[in-house]
Amino acid sequence: PETITIQELANRMSERAVDVIKFLMKQGQMHKITDVIDADTAQLVAEELGHTVKRVAESDVEEGLFDTPDTDENLSARPPVVTIMGHVDHGKTSLLDAIRKTNVVSGEAGGITQHIGAYQVTSPLGGKITFIDTPGHAAFTAMRARGAKVTDIVVLVVAADDGVMPQTVEAITHAQAAGVPLIVAINKVDKPDANPQRVRTELLQHSIVVESMGGETLEFEVSAKTGQGLDDLLEGLQLQAEILDLKANPERSAEGTVIEAKLDRGRGPVATVLVQRGTLRTGDIVVAGAEWGRVRALINDLGANVKEAGPSVPVEVLGFNGTPEAGDRVAVVESEARAREITEYRARQKRERATARMGSAGRTLVDMMR
Ligand code: GTP
Ligand code: MG
Repeated sequence: PETITIQELANRMSERAVDVIKFLMKQGQMHKITDVIDADTAQLVAEELGHTVKRVAESDVEEGLFDTPDTDENLSARPPVVTIMGHVDHGKTSLLDAIRKTNVVSGEAGGITQHIGAYQVTSPLGGKITFIDTPGHAAFTAMRARGAKVTDIVVLVVAADDGVMPQTVEAITHAQAAGVPLIVAINKVDKPDANPQRVRTELLQHSIVVESMGGETLEFEVSAKTGQGLDDLLEGLQLQAEILDLKANPERSAEGTVIEAKLDRGRGPVATVLVQRGTLRTGDIVVAGAEWGRVRALINDLGANVKEAGPSVPVEVLGFNGTPEAGDRVAVVESEARAREITEYRARQKRERATARMGSAGRTLVDMMR
């Protein structure tokens, strides 16, 4: 049910909270400033104090912001978005670095200039593949819980000298729960004590049957250290993607998800955004969670300024007025007024949720921030 705190109600009417409390007292209700009242009571109070009430449901404010269906004729193929998961120290980051290194032609604009949470490479078969670096398992789950389905394929990294470990199992569970196909990368095969066959057998116990054991899950023996098997892995990813037949409409206004965001001293809020449909352009007005801004610059994974980014392309977005959060959905809106309406509404919701949580503790988060 819709609720509001007395403080927030007073704020929105530009009245003193104490006057709201007095009014309710006359009605026989005793309240503190942090108490939550229902929407009908709030409406009564507002009208008695001479305000016009306009009740806005979340569905109205957020209407049409996400998941507007793409029409068939505008769909075109898009690269797969791949997330690497696996147990601690099994070589996820090393693998991503090695894939990127072999892929970036030396001397290419910028080269590998910085660490970025997402990047795109070209497979030996010619197709593009987008990799996401950041999500730890917690982030993956959080994103999924917030409805942000960013991953098309999970690469499960298992170290050949260590085998299936607790977080390997966790990753399998996450991929299965999300209904995302999984490809196994048996890493560190260069090590003398590597035992890839043991990995295959252990995976069986978690109902992952790899191809060489008669199953359907693609598996690749790789080494982030020597580069062995990386091209095969990329080819496998492209083939898997072709089966998935991934499509998006590049012509609509952009939607996507914040992969990571930070406040940069020089550049202000910087959000790495994965564009999922449509095309994001400089000058666009974007909302992400409770923040909005006008896109001042788009920077690709090689550190170069670009004018636009289409489906499955990760870009750094400059121009947000505040720093959004990883997992926030991003959408382009038609005007600054609309951006303000949406983000102010979300900010209020966020405050109210915080207040409701803290209410019983006496002082609220809102009080403390004053
Ligand atoms: P977390 O992010 O901490 O979960 O670890 P990670 O999975 O990203 O592993 P990381 O890439 O940091 O690698 C862990 C260690 O394994 C490092 O010391 C790497 O150098 C080493 N390593 C990774 N891949 C290979 C490989 O293919 N062969 C060998 N010999 N060592 C590797
Ligand atoms: Mg790592």
